[in-house]
Amino acid sequence: MPTYRKLIAARHSTNFREATEIVDVQRRDPAPNEILVRNLYTGVNASDYMMAAGMYISPTPVPFDLGGEAAGEIVAVGSDVHNFKVGDHVLTLGGGYGEYNYQRAAYAMPIPKARPEIVSLGVGGLTAIMALELVGEMKSDETVLVTAAAGGTGHYAVQLAKLAGNHVIGTCSSDDKAALLKSLGCDRAINYKNENVRQVLKAEYPKGLNIVFESVGGELFDACLRHLAVRGRLITIGFIAEYPNAQKIETTRVHTFLIPKSASVRGFWLNHYLREAPQYLVKLIDLLESGKLVSEVDAMAFHGLESVADAVDYLYTGKNHGKVLVRY
Ligand SMILES: NC(=O)c1ccc[n+]([C@@H]2O[C@H](COP(=O)([O-])OP(=O)(O)OC[C@H]3O[C@@H](n4cnc5c(N)ncnc54)[C@H](OP(=O)(O)O)[C@@H]3O)[C@@H](O)[C@H]2O)c1
Repeated sequence: MPTYRKLIAARHSTNFREATEIVDVQRRDPAPNEILVRNLYTGVNASDYMMAAGMYISPTPVPFDLGGEAAGEIVAVGSDVHNFKVGDHVLTLGGGYGEYNYQRAAYAMPIPKARPEIVSLGVGGLTAIMALELVGEMKSDETVLVTAAAGGTGHYAVQLAKLAGNHVIGTCSSDDKAALLKSLGCDRAINYKNENVRQVLKAEYPKGLNIVFESVGGELFDACLRHLAVRGRLITIGFIAEYPNAQKIETTRVHTFLIPKSASVRGFWLNHYLREAPQYLVKLIDLLESGKLVSEVDAMAFHGLESVADAVDYLYTGKNHGKVLVRY
């Protein structure tokens, strides 16, 4: 049997390059319930750094495979697999940083054709739609604020909140990103490098925020928490601005901001919503194929496993517009 290469976390370290190694692995036939996928595109995620550091939600003992969502082509199926055949294209969650990827067939999601715009639906798209709809109880005619709004996850949240008929505010760090947000239908883009978010919210949104889709943490989280509307919902999905110092984070006491407004802070982690993921992916693919949803892919090109550490570093510069991808 030939071998293939994959990127593993060999040791926990806050230095992604030191934590990771590319290893050769013997290919094998898939187990009866497995498919073997040749990865074509994989998404780069803020969580990659935290996982390699052993600081993500449920740290995995080393060594372990790295990589989130991947789009690819099935090259072999196990004897009990009847819902897929060789040549089908699928979206998988986990194992993205490998040339090949063994997956339980039950967890793979069919897609029309692997392409850059589809792969980021796997983490960013699914997180945005399920966090807003299932956790945020998103309806219409509300004010929704999205942080890291021009990023791989945020740009979907902006569009989905807009499609649902809401007024959407997006925060970002540059005028280029603000222009992208406007082109995606965002009603008010706040470049937090030039404008003070608290002051903008106080001056322009005196009734407060009904939903916050929050992934940055730090000062932005605090500003949004303090500006929730009566019965407002803050969905916290991440805190990238605090990740490099994650071990030092102390619990913030939020009750004094919540009770006077009957507001709530709600957490979302994609891993807890995998059962619902396939039906929401169908919805996202329909929106994408009908032109109602734009999947923004960052223009910086990363190729092959050797580029993964560069791609993770790049994501952490905060310069990306939409999803950062690695192509094989
Ligand atoms: N809970 C879940 O299941 C789940 C799933 C997917 C993503 N997430 C979370 O969502 C967030 C975004 O993840 P992503 O992978 O989609 O990344 P991304 O949004 O494509 O890129 C990260 C963005 O964060 C913003 N940012 C703000 N402060 C930053 C800082 N100090 N350092 C670096 N970037 C900073 C930057 O945009 P601007 O500064 O211009 O806004 C940057 O472009 C992360 O917190 C991630 O953990 C959670």
